Amino acid sequence: MKDIFRPSFHFTPPANWMNDPNGLVFFDGEYHLFYQYHPHSTVWGPMHWGHAVSTDLVHWQHLPIALYPDEQGMIFSGSAVVDVNNTAGFGKNALVVIFTYNKDYKESQNLACSTDRGRTWTKYAGNPVIPHPAHVRDFRDPKVFWHEDHWVMALAAGDSILFFTSPDLKHWEQSGSFGSGFGSTTGVWEMPDLFKLPLGKDGESRWVLIVGVGNGGPAGGSGTQYFIGYFNGKKFISENHRDTILWTDHGSDYYAPQSWSNEPDGRRIMLGWMSNWQYAREVPSDGWRGMFSVPSELSLKQTEHGIRLIQQPIRELQSLRAEHRHWQAETIQPEVNLLKAFQGQALEIVTEFQVSKDVKSFGFRVRVGVDEHTAIRYSVEDETLNLDRTRSGEVTFHDAFAGVHSAKLTPVNHVIRLHIFVDSSSVEVFANGGLVVLTDCIFPSPQSNGLELFAEGGQVIVNSLDVYRLNSAKFQVVT
Ligand code: FRU
Repeated sequence: MKDIFRPSFHFTPPANWMNDPNGLVFFDGEYHLFYQYHPHSTVWGPMHWGHAVSTDLVHWQHLPIALYPDEQGMIFSGSAVVDVNNTAGFGKNALVVIFTYNKDYKESQNLACSTDRGRTWTKYAGNPVIPHPAHVRDFRDPKVFWHEDHWVMALAAGDSILFFTSPDLKHWEQSGSFGSGFGSTTGVWEMPDLFKLPLGKDGESRWVLIVGVGNGGPAGGSGTQYFIGYFNGKKFISENHRDTILWTDHGSDYYAPQSWSNEPDGRRIMLGWMSNWQYAREVPSDGWRGMFSVPSELSLKQTEHGIRLIQQPIRELQSLRAEHRHWQAETIQPEVNLLKAFQGQALEIVTEFQVSKDVKSFGFRVRVGVDEHTAIRYSVEDETLNLDRTRSGEVTFHDAFAGVHSAKLTPVNHVIRLHIFVDSSSVEVFANGGLVVLTDCIFPSPQSNGLELFAEGGQVIVNSLDVYRLNSAKFQVVT
């Protein structure tokens, strides 16, 4: 069978099962990407760390498996740092990964290091560096970074994030905790990330704490929330009320994201696993399962509701742009499809709509075929952006899959902006400059390549529209 759902520009494992991104670090000209990997099956199992490298975050080289499970347990998620000052004694500029061993639901934190640009890895003989605490079931996913004069670890533990500090990556002391009733608390907390971003141009900044929630996400199942606040080197303090829930993504398929450390341009770039624990094991598979979102660059914006996270697709993706059409100041009437001539499985759409009361809803249908499409629809009356995959293709493999995923989106100066990526089995929508994001997997027939721009209940003006066919990214296996 042809591999019809294999994306052309999103990262997938060469074969078998993948979940969370792990150990994202830039070192010596390469972006490293590790991932939760089960190399013997298309469903989750004893976790390894798969490994790939890239010089531009677009084209990837698959490298041999970096970490194998052993008698101490499976290799669960974690992060990576460059030990510039050789604090751990593994060597100057050693790459160090900090991961969770999981054995019979006992979880501990551990190190492995590499002094050959990440090509071979040695587990630290003194593991664990943080042993499993008695009677605690969830204690995992360490995110480590250097802060002023010490290492900091954010660790997920049940309904909260714990913070630890260390001078040398080997000796850790707990310095604080956050959670227990803040934000979304309907599922186990997993995969924290913590980083500082500038706010405006006056030297102000805030810290962002990213937290995966295992259940009760905005589209059901797992989802990713974030908190905005302060970090004093020891603990995080939210600047919002405990009832405030901020979702990183309002679609169904953006989980366990992580950001790159040591990024050479000082950008904060993050990518997530495009799936959902509700049905991850059941999505159509042809010898592989699991893919990652496009990487996005993060920033903060002051809005009337408070400070919000902004996600924008990284500029490197523009190198994939091929055939292009541009329109401006077009009036879209119901039943007329401006994009009839434009077909494709891998597309990028950048557009700006002028919103008025003349129209009820408008948007795009992508991957259109016989009885099949995925709709990206803005509803003017209730100011919501909807991603509707009820008729997107294969949807019956799990009850929770078919659905419409929505987010509140207010026009800015009467304008709605959409930046959309479509691939063989996904749709990502970045709205109003990345203030609202919706990420969904879809499984359409390979013949469903149509594209429609629609207006319902009146006409809408498109201020500008750019549609690009995208070339495939290169994925090369190095053995
Ligand atoms: C998140 C997660 C992590 C864990 C890993 C196991 O998706 O559940 O908490 O480390 O997956 O594969």
